[in-house]
Amino acid sequence: MNWPGQLPPRKDWELRRLTSADALAIADHWRALPSGSRYSRFGHILPDATLERFAEDLDFDTDLFCGAFSPEGDLVALVQAAPEWDGAWELSFSVLPRVQRKGLARRLGDRILRMLAAQGARRVRMCCLASNQAMAQLAAALGFALQRESTFIRGECELVPPNVRGLRPGQRERLRGI
Ligand SMILES: CC(C)(COP(=O)(O)OP(=O)(O)OC[C@H]1O[C@@H](n2cnc3c(N)ncnc32)[C@H](O)[C@@H]1OP(=O)(O)O)[C@@H](O)C(=O)NCCC(=O)NCCS
Repeated sequence: MNWPGQLPPRKDWELRRLTSADALAIADHWRALPSGSRYSRFGHILPDATLERFAEDLDFDTDLFCGAFSPEGDLVALVQAAPEWDGAWELSFSVLPRVQRKGLARRLGDRILRMLAAQGARRVRMCCLASNQAMAQLAAALGFALQRESTFIRGECELVPPNVRGLRPGQRERLRGI
């Protein structure tokens, strides 16, 4: 007989910061991207072996990663923030096609911008192909000011630092979770 108390806890969607323990999940995620998404994310249709190498070489001390895991435990959406030479950070997103347009990139973007603001970052950038309307609209929704430069769209966003209580202007209580 199945008593409710004996059932395993319900697994649900999880959205969290990633660590070096997640490097294999990142490799799996990148390998699961179809060629069009690989091109949009990396500017090339990279082969699996190159993506695996990229994942092995990731530096979790310098870059920030946030990901969304499905109830099955698959890393289905990922955002990476990488520091640039001038103190700004660059964001890169990838979401598996089967879960696109469900708000995952938006939530990951909001989360990583809050994390960056909390650790003192002031400027964040993104860059995508001018044909990538999905990314351009996502960036605009996250507060980036966009500019077209030949075949690219570049976006920049100024972060507002949290005050001593960890709150941003207009915010009355700390944001928890996602
Ligand atoms: C761009 C990408 C990350 C968006 O991820 P997503 O989880 O589907 O985006 P969300 O569901 O959070 O959408 C947030 C907003 O972005 C915009 N958007 C997302 N997908 C869109 C699409 N296909 N067409 C137009 N606008 C789109 C919309 O404004 C959307 O808000 P709405 O659904 O309320 O209208 C995803 O399409 C992707 O991984 N593409 C391939 C890789 C890539 O292009 N990476 C960017 C390089 S940095």
